Amino acid sequence: MLGFIYNIFILPEHRGQGIGRDLLSYSENIAKSLRCKLIQLEPRAFDHTVDLNWLISWYARMGYVSKADGSTRMEKILVVTQTRLKHQVQRSACLSQPVRQ
Ligand SMILES: CC(C)(COP(=O)(O)OP(=O)(O)OC[C@H]1O[C@@H](n2cnc3c(N)ncnc32)[C@H](O)[C@@H]1OP(=O)(O)O)[C@@H](O)C(=O)NCCC(=O)NCCS
Repeated sequence: MLGFIYNIFILPEHRGQGIGRDLLSYSENIAKSLRCKLIQLEPRAFDHTVDLNWLISWYARMGYVSKADGSTRMEKILVVTQTRLKHQVQRSACLSQPVRQ
């Protein structure tokens, strides 16, 4: 499944303190919990305080890469953590066990 972030906005007086990064990471975790393997967004400067090139480099700093298809979208592969992977493996092993009566 594909996740999509439509907008992210931090009030100007609270920018540059790591809140945008935390918000992005929180959204990525929600997408992971919904089993999204990929998340995309469309960088679009919301107000005159940031310009598009700065925004693209900010998202790049957050691990997003521009799509190679010529579109303006950026995307990030969501990595499943080892703990989560272990849990999933255990769960599927459990499900494949025959039920003992
Ligand atoms: C883009 C936006 C969400 C970033 O939010 P933020 O809370 O200011 O960002 P953070 O503080 O989490 O930024 C994290 C990193 O970027 C750096 N950074 C943030 N603002 C910066 C600035 N103006 N200049 C240089 N570096 C900056 C931080 O220092 C931090 O760097 P690090 O990796 O060394 O720790 C915010 O600027 C915003 O709301 N912009 C207007 C809305 C908008 O256009 N949204 C896009 C819609 S697609």
